[in-house]
Amino acid sequence: MDSILVTGGNRLEGVIPISGAKNATLPLMIASLLTDEELVLENVPHLADVESLIRILTNHGVDYHVHGKRRGNNGKSGRTIAFRAKEIVDTTAPYELVSRMRASFWVIGPLLARMHHAKVSLPGGCAIGTRPVDLFISSLEAMGAKIKVEGGYAVADAPDGLHGAHFKFPKVSVGATHVAMMAATLAHGTTVLENAAREPEVVDLANCLIAMGAKITGAGTSTINITGVERLHGATHRVLPDRIETGTYAMAVAMTGGDVLLKGAEAPLLQNALDALSEAGVEIEERNDGIRVSRNSETLKSVDVTTEPFPGFPTDLQAQFMALMTQAEGDTHITETIFENRFMHVQELARLGADISLEGQTATVHGGRPLKGATVMATDLRASVSLVIAGLVADGETRINRVYHLDRGFENLEQKLSACGAKVERVSN
Ligand code: UD1
Repeated sequence: MDSILVTGGNRLEGVIPISGAKNATLPLMIASLLTDEELVLENVPHLADVESLIRILTNHGVDYHVHGKRRGNNGKSGRTIAFRAKEIVDTTAPYELVSRMRASFWVIGPLLARMHHAKVSLPGGCAIGTRPVDLFISSLEAMGAKIKVEGGYAVADAPDGLHGAHFKFPKVSVGATHVAMMAATLAHGTTVLENAAREPEVVDLANCLIAMGAKITGAGTSTINITGVERLHGATHRVLPDRIETGTYAMAVAMTGGDVLLKGAEAPLLQNALDALSEAGVEIEERNDGIRVSRNSETLKSVDVTTEPFPGFPTDLQAQFMALMTQAEGDTHITETIFENRFMHVQELARLGADISLEGQTATVHGGRPLKGATVMATDLRASVSLVIAGLVADGETRINRVYHLDRGFENLEQKLSACGAKVERVSN
């Protein structure tokens, strides 16, 4: 199994190209199940999660082809992939495929809408909390589905198709919003989703569905209206830039000091996190071609954050921000409100010498202590990258084991950081 070796001490200078967003790519790929025509997605990142989802989609009967290298593209990032679900031959998403990644459960929406039946294994994914599926089930039931959970599978039927419904999510869920929105595009009548997730990836999915012929208004607000149509058609859609990757590299630069252009990044996608960085003393410049991040001051100020649904501070940047705050002056309070078990990186950061105390959902980082390289373990996707960031300033060598988590969500991580002067390499054990 591979490890990542990081040798700390170098500033970051240069350009990091930002990839297409993983969290948009996955629901967009799943949307291909809604039509028998071709859905072409541009700017698809090379990630293990994309490959896992391809295996699931092909099992349902989806054909796909990857466009070849094009002029101006080095072939290492941003692929164009065409998906075509001409005929769905299997409405079961089996445990062996779904258990690797939670988002694969989301096929339940399109399968039910188009085929009126779906049998989908209950999901796996990062171990960051219990992550139930009740919101998916209740929203689809509101649209007329009958759903039983048996033998580890959700079995859903809607023999006469789904119908429009008025549904208010009791809690904001990105995945359940994606699924209910996709399902409603082919339902009879109008669906109103209240307390919907407002994440940019929901807007990206809605834009793609609209290009496919769906009638959707209000995506990006907490009330989304969808009027069902008879059928959807093919479309070409470009995946939006990854705001979590953007925030992660911005925090890496904040950590090491230096000056980096995050090419293709869009500030409004992560304004809250950028504001926290500015408050900490990092310079953020919004430009036409991306975001320039620099830190030349010696000190970082501590900034308290609480994770919240968009537009609040993203839970997917919490671990990285915690790594950064280990180098800030004084105490920082970081409160996690989205997932109940998303502090697994605390004990790994402690191995590097960080002083962090935990009480309930709040971590207090006692900043300003120097970090020292050690062997640590990646526990989930975002936690693993927080260890890389910490390693960038730790004295000596940090070895991060179990890096398959990183490969799920960060395209060319070592290459992107190395190109800016970091010492990061992948080694096979
Ligand atoms: C998505 C993102 C993930 C991010 C998360 C929150 C993808 C592929 N993943 O995950 O990176 O961390 O949003 O921004 O886009 N919940 C329920 N019942 C449900 C569904 C969810 O109680 O049926 C709870 C979850 O346990 C969690 C909260 O709702 O506490 C938010 O989860 P949700 O927004 O659904 O996260 P995901 O869509 O899985």
